Amino acid sequence: MNPAPVITVDGPSGVGKGTVCQWLATQLGWPLLDSGALYRLTALAALRRNLQLEDEVGVAQVAAGLDVVFAPGDTGELQVILDGEEVSSAIRSETAGNAASRVAALPMVRAALLQRQRNFRQPPGLIADGRDMGTVVFPDAELKLFLTADAGERAQRRYKQLIEKGLNASLESLVKEIAERDERDVQRTAAPLKAAEDAEVLDTTRLNIAEVCQWALTLARKRQLVR
Ligand code: C5P
Repeated sequence: MNPAPVITVDGPSGVGKGTVCQWLATQLGWPLLDSGALYRLTALAALRRNLQLEDEVGVAQVAAGLDVVFAPGDTGELQVILDGEEVSSAIRSETAGNAASRVAALPMVRAALLQRQRNFRQPPGLIADGRDMGTVVFPDAELKLFLTADAGERAQRRYKQLIEKGLNASLESLVKEIAERDERDVQRTAAPLKAAEDAEVLDTTRLNIAEVCQWALTLARKRQLVR
């Protein structure tokens, strides 16, 4: 039996993958896998258990046993519940993002999350947002997209996004954190951030979000994933 179709969207922090993925998911009526949330949740759960983020065996156990529910809230936004507690905002902080990129470098942690991510592939299809969706998790995806943008532009986008959500942010520290996160994500040996050989790559530095969404939809149409 053919598995359900998948569109993978990979790229570095702050490139706008989340917005494009949400838009695509709505257009196609397909669910969305936010794989970064799983790494953020693993990091948060590990910190709450007072584990060192370098403790590979301990953190991998946390990842394997994550008690997490993604449930639509009153306003339609997806709520993330960890061990029965609402953590949607807590996992979005830059601290959680940085901790996530540290645990994401551990091969045992990645292995522990692999099947959980593949289980999201159900009819009618899946939009998968991450760093290694097209290279490791869904290497046979029907369409692979890879977004890039200058680091300065990505820091600006992340800044705007955090401020709009009413969260605290400093542009200066975002530039630094994004550079650190890029370095870790690209340099790690386990599933480093890179475009799959058969990915469609787009530099979005000078594009607005609507243009990026249209590019993705046009490719999805070409592959007959949407009418
Ligand atoms: O995408 P997001 O910023 O939520 O991801 C947080 C961190 O999780 C990333 O910096 C990256 O290190 C890690 N990650 C990963 N593989 C994925 C998704 C996220 O390594 N598929």
